[in-house]
Amino acid sequence: MRAIVVTPGSEAPHVREIDRPDPDPGEALVRILRVGIDGTDHEVIAGGHGGYPEGASRLVLGHEAIGVVKDPNGSDLDAGQLVVPTVRRPVEGGPTDYFERGEPDMAPEGHYVERGIAGAHGFMAEYVTSPAEFLVPVPTALAETGFLIEPISNVEKALTLARASRSAFEWDPESAMVLGNGPLGLLAVGLLRAAGFDRVYCLGRRDRPDPTIDIVERLGATYVDSREDTLREIPDVHEPMDLVFEATGHAPHAFETIDLLAPNGVGALLGIPGDRSITLDGGRLHREFVLSNKALVGSVNSSVPHFRAAIDTLEAFPEWLAEDVITDVFAPDEVESAFETGDDRIKSVIEFDTL
Ligand SMILES: NC(=O)c1ccc[n+]([C@@H]2O[C@H](COP(=O)([O-])OP(=O)(O)OC[C@H]3O[C@@H](n4cnc5c(N)ncnc54)[C@H](OP(=O)(O)O)[C@@H]3O)[C@@H](O)[C@H]2O)c1
Repeated sequence: MRAIVVTPGSEAPHVREIDRPDPDPGEALVRILRVGIDGTDHEVIAGGHGGYPEGASRLVLGHEAIGVVKDPNGSDLDAGQLVVPTVRRPVEGGPTDYFERGEPDMAPEGHYVERGIAGAHGFMAEYVTSPAEFLVPVPTALAETGFLIEPISNVEKALTLARASRSAFEWDPESAMVLGNGPLGLLAVGLLRAAGFDRVYCLGRRDRPDPTIDIVERLGATYVDSREDTLREIPDVHEPMDLVFEATGHAPHAFETIDLLAPNGVGALLGIPGDRSITLDGGRLHREFVLSNKALVGSVNSSVPHFRAAIDTLEAFPEWLAEDVITDVFAPDEVESAFETGDDRIKSVIEFDTL
């Protein structure tokens, strides 16, 4: 079967013929339909993030997938059921406590591998196997868009952590801002609108015409250009934000979010920057943070409940949203084009098969 792999020393991902996997006891065999590409895949390809499975000379890429159960292999799943796999798996022979309590997304490094990212093969292949407990059933209507459930689930988790940090008092957020108009940022804007936020803003650094700005505005959100307004100015120009999702990976934003928040507000940090030194007035920000009861939470990965919430969110999206976010669909043999980037491209997906 065909799989899309990276090998040490080869910069570009390419198609390889590999053996179709046989499910172990407790695992199901899944026929993959579509696998999305995101920034993490590019970081893995560049060698800046993740790594190969132990002893392997290649890594099958892909962590945003949707497929169909081909062989339930004695599990609770039915053949033909549409499923989305979660990403984290226990380290062989390692601790499993976070997995046993259903919270692998909270496990510290060393307690997990990540399929298609770090230490385990991913889902960019015609068939994959997975323990059934990590396959989340999905309604058939989501066959073409369901690979977006994984990135949406990352935002669901961040929202859960943000709400939890404000649960000790009556918190009734009205305004929200997403920093970043990449795929994650746009899905976060869609999620906030679907969750009933009326006043949503999205920060970018693009000129019009631009397809991401079109999506932001079609969602009824306000586009804000970071080249015109700094995060510190936005509360005066627009309004202070009760909730902020940081999804740029621009390191200063993590700290400048304190200025952007309303009293009692919370910022959820999703972006993953490289090393970078920055200069800021730490005393002022620290004081503002404390005296206004603000909170910042970091959030990475997601677990089954976040995937389930993401299914509801994807179903609640206006129909055009997934269509506009998924700008490019490629066959596996078009792998070279699939990994190209550009301002007119939002989310690329590799289609291995259809329902
Ligand atoms: N925590 C998690 O679980 C998780 C999961 C997935 C991804 N991530 C991380 O989340 C971040 C967003 O993901 P993504 O896939 O959407 O990444 P992406 O495609 O790199 O998008 C980032 C967006 O932020 C914009 N941006 C960067 N700096 C900016 C600035 N100073 N002002 C305004 N806009 C700025 C970029 O604009 P341009 O396109 O115009 O350059 C881009 O559209 C990444 O860091 C990614 O690694 C985290």
